[in-house]
Amino acid sequence: MNVYNNFARSTELLARAKKVIPSASQTYSKSYRYYCEGAAPAFIERGEGCRLWDVDGNSYIDYLLALGPVTLGYCDPVVDAAVECQLRKGMVFSQSSPLEVELAEKLVDIIPSAEMVRFVKNGSDATSSAVRLARAYTGRDLILSCGYHGMQDWYIGTSENNLGVPMAVQSLIKTFPYNDAAALDAMLQQYSGQVAAVIMEPVRTEEPAPGYLEKVRALADSHGVLLIFDEVVTGFRIALGGAQSHYGVTPDLTALGKGLANGMPLSAVVGRSDIMQLADEGAFVSLTFGGETLSLAAALATLDQLQKRDVFTHTWSLGNRFYEGMVSLVTRMGLNDVAYVAGTKIMPGLFFKPCGDASANDVLSLFQQEVISRGVLFLGVSYLCASHSEGDIDFTLSVFEEGLAKVALLKQGVPLQKLLRGESYRPVFKRNKT
Ligand SMILES: Cc1ncc(COP(=O)(O)O)c(C=O)c1O
Repeated sequence: MNVYNNFARSTELLARAKKVIPSASQTYSKSYRYYCEGAAPAFIERGEGCRLWDVDGNSYIDYLLALGPVTLGYCDPVVDAAVECQLRKGMVFSQSSPLEVELAEKLVDIIPSAEMVRFVKNGSDATSSAVRLARAYTGRDLILSCGYHGMQDWYIGTSENNLGVPMAVQSLIKTFPYNDAAALDAMLQQYSGQVAAVIMEPVRTEEPAPGYLEKVRALADSHGVLLIFDEVVTGFRIALGGAQSHYGVTPDLTALGKGLANGMPLSAVVGRSDIMQLADEGAFVSLTFGGETLSLAAALATLDQLQKRDVFTHTWSLGNRFYEGMVSLVTRMGLNDVAYVAGTKIMPGLFFKPCGDASANDVLSLFQQEVISRGVLFLGVSYLCASHSEGDIDFTLSVFEEGLAKVALLKQGVPLQKLLRGESYRPVFKRNKT
């Protein structure tokens, strides 16, 4: 097995980037602070299928998939051809393109909550639009939120990264814990008559308990509150119709993003016509690039391919293999007190606890250092795409075994300092505890 130890070009670029780019990256979760700085790449040159090549020529099986957008694979030939074809006709026009109608109709067909659709660009645009529409519809201001919903003021005030968000705005959102219907019920009673919407990620690192999402739906209804599913991650990733079709619970509004266009920047707010129609009656949802055609063409091709290639059967099967493989590795290596597998099987997560003199973040960094040096790019939750194969999963599990063997050394008392070559993981985004 190759062991990469040359990150010279990444290191050089990183030094330059630190001078001109805060966090040295446009997206916090792609920043060097999330990887074992010095023993990991910081810059990627190209991708193909499920693989990435860093600027030093090292290649990786990628389980980040650009933080979720890539559902088919990097440089998918069908999607790329659709984009190239559209490029020759024009990227943006002075009026709407017919692609908007075609794609909106397609989303209405496949997303249970979608009766009308508005295209925006980022997940944050989609969640913010949904929240504005909910406030407009109910005439109330308060939002109850669970999960991550993006960078806009209305949400990010709930996190520790709330500098610059006015207190008045921060006071209009409260967070509630996942999988705890009683807690949500209590909050809805406490703020009775003030809540516009409950917004939540339907699933992330924990499966919904049986009946939980149904109970949330019923609670929202009984309090006259709108239910918004933030499916920016789960849409087009756990099923074509998202978590709402997978779990059979339909929200009033849905924010979609990431996986819609296999990497092209496109997101959407979709939902009940009577609410969505308010975007035509004063609830402002409009962007110059909302109807940018390359992304629309990419989305149409992506959705078509996701259906034709039966991608979700493939990714669920791989996810199952990956999840079960990790569970059995952790158990076989006697590491259940240090490492655990969690999440929904199509997005399996491997997480760590403190061990010896190492914090949970240190253990993650050590594991990451070892698997990255053997050609696997990993951060915790793994996404799977059409291009991953059973062979990739089996190879990854063999790499994980070597990574866990280093974690076992920590458990045996070897100091972290002797094992970790780079800097430990230092996340930028910090959630407030609910
Ligand atoms: C669940 C969820 N909602 C919203 C967002 C915000 O999306 P974006 O970063 O595209 O604005 C994210 C981003 O990671 C997300 O994970």
